[in-house]
Amino acid sequence: MRAVWYERTGAAPAVLTVGEMPTPDAGPGEVRVRLEASGVNPADVGRRSGNYRAMEFPRVIPNSDGAGIIDQIGQGVTRFALGDRVWLFNGQRNGRAFGTAAEYITLADYLVTPLPPDVSFAAGATLGIPCMTAWCALFADGPISGQTVLVTGGAGAVGHYAVQLAKWGGARVIATVSSEVKDVEARLAGADTVVNYRTEDVVSKVMAFTENRGVDRVIDVDFGGNLATTLKLMAQNSTIAVYASNGNRTPVLPVRELMEKCITVRSLVLFALPPPLLAAAQADITKWLESGTRVHNIAGQFGLAETADAHLAVEKGDKIGTVIVDCAR
Ligand SMILES: NC(=O)c1ccc[n+]([C@@H]2O[C@H](COP(=O)([O-])OP(=O)(O)OC[C@H]3O[C@@H](n4cnc5c(N)ncnc54)[C@H](OP(=O)(O)O)[C@@H]3O)[C@@H](O)[C@H]2O)c1
Repeated sequence: MRAVWYERTGAAPAVLTVGEMPTPDAGPGEVRVRLEASGVNPADVGRRSGNYRAMEFPRVIPNSDGAGIIDQIGQGVTRFALGDRVWLFNGQRNGRAFGTAAEYITLADYLVTPLPPDVSFAAGATLGIPCMTAWCALFADGPISGQTVLVTGGAGAVGHYAVQLAKWGGARVIATVSSEVKDVEARLAGADTVVNYRTEDVVSKVMAFTENRGVDRVIDVDFGGNLATTLKLMAQNSTIAVYASNGNRTPVLPVRELMEKCITVRSLVLFALPPPLLAAAQADITKWLESGTRVHNIAGQFGLAETADAHLAVEKGDKIGTVIVDCAR
């Protein structure tokens, strides 16, 4: 099969090689997927660059997420049939060296989910890390119906799904953004109100929206960077779900303030969450996809041989949505 790999970390054009590798066969409990699309997420790029961790394997095919068609079924797998359209996550994670920047991938069937017929493969490849993270951040601590949820970075890949899923879950949603373009995106996702965190007073806008009660949940893209503001707008007995903290990775925690408001801090990385929670996320995302038209933001599409350009597009930092590699071209 054609694949893209790296054997040392570094700049994408320097370390990513395009070539031929043996096509894998599905082992017991596994399926083989003929990949149509591969999603490139910031953590895939961070791993390849060496910013996240040292090389874990002699050779790595990058990218966790993907979508395609089941073309081989391993012993004992009953959930799928040949020809099923699917999306998948954790391709290159948790002890797995070979991800989705390739024509084929084999992996355990529980990492694979049916893709509804009206959702494109490119859209399917945005569901893994972004949509699963959004779902787990929103629902891991119970239902959100009737609650007010603040999604920081509501036009981000994760944030945009968090806004859509929070609305679907019955919440009132406030999103923060940094520009007019992102304001439009957050509203398209269904945000009830949008605040520009660079030009507006987030605390007063949120407190006005909640009639001075504060928000019940925060889905936060920058825990450390936002903490001083966030603490002022969280309600008593509220929860903050943290999936990134790039503005300040080692914030000082004002524990007394957290305690006095009985605030729960739920931090997460998708690949380490418990399997039952991940299975619940997959099942609920399927229901959500089937129950309406959803917005899947695709920030750009590249051919397999252009995977380095796809990584550079993510590194640039101005993407709106998920960057996709089309594995069949
Ligand atoms: N823990 C996990 O399992 C997990 C899963 C997925 C992603 N992540 C991490 O989460 C981060 C975002 O991923 P992504 O794919 O969603 O990236 P993305 O598509 O680039 O979205 C990030 C969004 O957050 C906004 N933003 C940045 N700082 C902000 C702040 N202080 N307040 C409000 N908005 C802010 C950005 O816009 P502006 O800069 O214009 O504000 C951007 O729209 C990455 O660091 C990624 O590695 C973690």
